[in-house]
Amino acid sequence: MNWKTATALSTLYDAAVQNRTISRIGARALWNYDITNLHRAIASQDPTALTLDIPCGGGLAVRGDRHVAADLSRTMLNRARRKTNTLLQADVYALPFHSSTFDACLTYNGLHCLADPAAALRELTRVLRPGGTLSGATLTRGTGRDPLITLLQRLGVFGAPGTANDLRTWLTDAGLSDIALTPTGAVTAFTARK
Ligand SMILES: C[S@@+](CC[C@H](N)C(=O)[O-])C[C@H]1O[C@@H](n2cnc3c(N)ncnc32)[C@H](O)[C@@H]1O
Repeated sequence: MNWKTATALSTLYDAAVQNRTISRIGARALWNYDITNLHRAIASQDPTALTLDIPCGGGLAVRGDRHVAADLSRTMLNRARRKTNTLLQADVYALPFHSSTFDACLTYNGLHCLADPAAALRELTRVLRPGGTLSGATLTRGTGRDPLITLLQRLGVFGAPGTANDLRTWLTDAGLSDIALTPTGAVTAFTARK
């Protein structure tokens, strides 16, 4: 399965994740996750910071007019257009930006969909300015939901999710510091500084 062309899956996912009731029940049932943690993280984003949000999906985390929302999927970008016009089709492995461009990079619910999350984190770090912050959340193995993660990998929905230890290694190897991981159910939220 390819997220770039998966119109039905993208539409279904975004409709569910942007519905407060469905996403709360779904996140708890599937991932033992309290999605209000994600809503709080989004609400705490600094709207004055030049921010790259990839994958933005249907615009769940869009906040303010200095927020650049990017995704591989046209379907997702069309949905995100309801929230912002600062949109870009881009591949997280090859971002069309100069190094050290952004004050903040966000990557919510995306790393577990990728075949090479470490490479994506290196590319996000490249476009982050020194002192800038990378934040995100990802499903992690070793948190009680490995059979479901494996099933979604087999279906091609997920790429190669790692454990929380893998995540820490990827962030460290990307050259980031002040790494903070916050596991809740099967989801690990993270922040780090360049
Ligand atoms: C589970 S959704 C998460 C979207 C959004 N951040 C959210 O939390 O609702 C995963 C997203 O990753 C995008 N995606 C997958 N591979 C990508 C890539 N290589 N570059 C950019 N986006 C990608 C998909 O199109 C999809 O929108």
